[in-house]
Amino acid sequence: MATCVLAYSGGLDTSVAIKWIRDNYDLEVVAVAVDVGEERDYEGLRAKALSIGAADARVVDAKQDFFNDFIRHALWANLLYEHKYPAFTALARPLLARKQVEVALEIGAEYLAHGCTGKGNDQVRFETTYAALAPQMRVIAPVREWGMTRDQEIDYAQEHGIPVPVDKKSPYSIDVNLWGRSIECGAIEDPSREAPDDAWAWTVDPLKAPDEPGYTTVTFEQGTPVELDGEALDGVSLVMRLNELAGSHGVGRVNMIENRLVGIKSRELYETPAATVLLTAHRDLESLTLDRETYHFKPYLELRYAELVYYGQWYTPLRQAIDAFMAETQRRVNGQVTIKLYKGRCEAVARKSDWSLYDYSLATYDVGDKFDQSLSKGFIDIYALPAKVAARVARNHGLEV
Ligand code: ARG
Repeated sequence: MATCVLAYSGGLDTSVAIKWIRDNYDLEVVAVAVDVGEERDYEGLRAKALSIGAADARVVDAKQDFFNDFIRHALWANLLYEHKYPAFTALARPLLARKQVEVALEIGAEYLAHGCTGKGNDQVRFETTYAALAPQMRVIAPVREWGMTRDQEIDYAQEHGIPVPVDKKSPYSIDVNLWGRSIECGAIEDPSREAPDDAWAWTVDPLKAPDEPGYTTVTFEQGTPVELDGEALDGVSLVMRLNELAGSHGVGRVNMIENRLVGIKSRELYETPAATVLLTAHRDLESLTLDRETYHFKPYLELRYAELVYYGQWYTPLRQAIDAFMAETQRRVNGQVTIKLYKGRCEAVARKSDWSLYDYSLATYDVGDKFDQSLSKGFIDIYALPAKVAARVARNHGLEV
């Protein structure tokens, strides 16, 4: 019997998929759950997959890989899709798919399967990664293929002894990893209504946040955060700690209308406390350490980078090339930024760096000013020359200037 490696989340869809793939494709199913920072009972998850009929079930801890190979790069590129969404789901999918492919290659499987619907971005991200890393493998997308409604799926599960969550099921669809938590479906699908309170789990209501601001100082080395308040931390611990701290100040709520790759606009809620702090701090440190031209040019590539990550184009030459540019710029991004957290606000309030391009003797208006103001006259004469000539010609032709 041939084997299919399934990306397993433990939810109803992928649980039903274990049985469905076995029966409809006549394949052995190996379930792979990848830990990218969602805190859950992975042993229980493994047992569940086996009890449903998986031939094997594995849990891969990919938290450090997620930080080192994805989150860090996203930070270098100040990644915010449509200026708001840190794209944490989009960043995790190529890693989940990569881990799945590694297992498939190891055991000589011929099929790969995921539990995405046919309406979302995630199917694209999984399958684009499969195409790049394991083009020889065949792909099964059960949820897209089986054409069952939710109720039919629950009937199917009950018929086959697949556990259906009995406790009051969350009215939302949730995806969680180190870099954020997404909340979709249910009441959220009406964009004209404010987000329901019970959608939020990582962030307190800013109105109920502490009356005293919180401060935290992040130290960066080559664009990567390495210390929090002077304590050296690995990336995963640092992000987890910031999720707690910033979340307790109500920082990191995102509420947006998003353009999906598949052409749909969707209403999205996200909670991204650590990402909000680190992106704010990182961008601030860049303002201190990058020269003006790089600082102005980089956002063009950031925009493209955000788009291609969101579109599932991680394993592509363009992503690698833009990454190389980002990495080059980060050599100078060393130093410390102090962030103030206050009732949902996150602000960089102080920064310092050995690589700072800020020069007091050039900036000051006090004694010690080394900027020779007399030079500005000649500079402006030449700088303004094109504007002066164009305006003169326009005026000669009666055009408005
Ligand atoms: N809209 C976001 C994205 O496309 C979040 C998707 C959440 N995915 C999920 N399977 N719940 O990246």
